[in-house]
Amino acid sequence: MDNRTFILKGNFCYTPSADTLVTRENSYLICEDGISRGIFPEIPEKYKDLPLMDCRDQVIIPGLVDLHLHAPQFAFRSVGMDMELLEWLEQVAFPQEARYQDPEYARTAYSIFAQAMKKSPTTRASMFATLHPETTILLMELMEETGLKTYVGKVNMDRNSPDYLREKTPLEAEKDTRNWVENTLHKYRNVRPILTPRFTPSCTDDLMKRLSQIQKDYQLPLQSHLSENLGEIEWVKELCPNTRFYGEAYAQFDLFGLDCPTIMAHCVHSSPEEIALMKENGVYVAHCPQSNTNLASGIAPVRKYLDAGLSVGLGSDIAGGYSECLFRAMAEAIQVSKLRWRLVDDSLQPLNLTEVFYMATKGGGSFFGKTGSFEEGYELDAVILNDSTLPTPLSFPLKERLERLVYMGDDRNVSGKFVSGTQIF
Ligand code: GUN
Ligand code: FE
Repeated sequence: MDNRTFILKGNFCYTPSADTLVTRENSYLICEDGISRGIFPEIPEKYKDLPLMDCRDQVIIPGLVDLHLHAPQFAFRSVGMDMELLEWLEQVAFPQEARYQDPEYARTAYSIFAQAMKKSPTTRASMFATLHPETTILLMELMEETGLKTYVGKVNMDRNSPDYLREKTPLEAEKDTRNWVENTLHKYRNVRPILTPRFTPSCTDDLMKRLSQIQKDYQLPLQSHLSENLGEIEWVKELCPNTRFYGEAYAQFDLFGLDCPTIMAHCVHSSPEEIALMKENGVYVAHCPQSNTNLASGIAPVRKYLDAGLSVGLGSDIAGGYSECLFRAMAEAIQVSKLRWRLVDDSLQPLNLTEVFYMATKGGGSFFGKTGSFEEGYELDAVILNDSTLPTPLSFPLKERLERLVYMGDDRNVSGKFVSGTQIF
């Protein structure tokens, strides 16, 4: 029996589907070799000798999954927020990302980031680094140490970017990317490389073709941005006159789902054709409400995506979003959906607590396999939450305790964390 076999006792919440919230008070979760064997009101006879961790009156939820963030942007989160996307990239994000050429700066900045991620309620994440291979590997090493399960991408960008932050030729970009993949593909327990063309405006067709070949050679997943901002979408139309919609700019290189597991961040302004292709190809939507607000991109019609049967997860989009705490993304996903319903389109009902909890756990978690739920057979990622620091004279049922944590909680409420059955703290 290894130390990934144990019992957790406490108050459990999880969502087997987007419309079902399960709450189990004062119960026992069995974890065997890192896999959930389910939640029981009493310890089943065959497990009665397992070590028990008594979390007392605390709330226990599946680890949260951040499907989209930029690690190098953590250093300047919440600064320079009064711009829209394209200006913000030029004025703020690109100059800051250029600093990651310097390994010393990168170590300092990425160490702060990795510690924040470790303390947060997140157990899995898919993140962008910068185009620099050396410091991308440094980030991967620091993330490996946290114990979180992450995808990390060396960014590709070879056009429409400043000289100081641009891959010089598609051939050099391909060489760097291949070397980085070779170096990191089987190196870590917890970290995997993910192909990361920044977005269509940053990548020439020649580079995209080379990335497509790398994707096929190594069977890599891919992450990028899609239909985030109206100016960006117009720009893509000019750059890719042969395509009918933005998604096709990736699909024409086989970089849009199907055999290439794909996360597309934002999808604020996706057309019906684009939504249909995402559905057909199994492309994941990373909904990033805080970023959509800060960069004034718009409000993604998430209800439409859920109704269409798309896979939808949540992202912090650090530093379009300022908070790495996914509770903020959950609460704000609900809030912006209410404004959208009231002000934009009353045919799409607002999101509710159960739906955003699902997106933050099993919805995004499925990109990583069987994760994000306490159902039997799922990898056990669990976050133990102490809500006694949010005092009230009232005594709430478990669903309302979860709701209070989603709106008011942060990493100070996280008293323990397990990833795939391994205790992180
Ligand atoms: N599109 C291309 N690059 C970025 C980025 O760094 N952040 C956001 N929000 N969108 C992007
Ligand atoms: Fe982003």
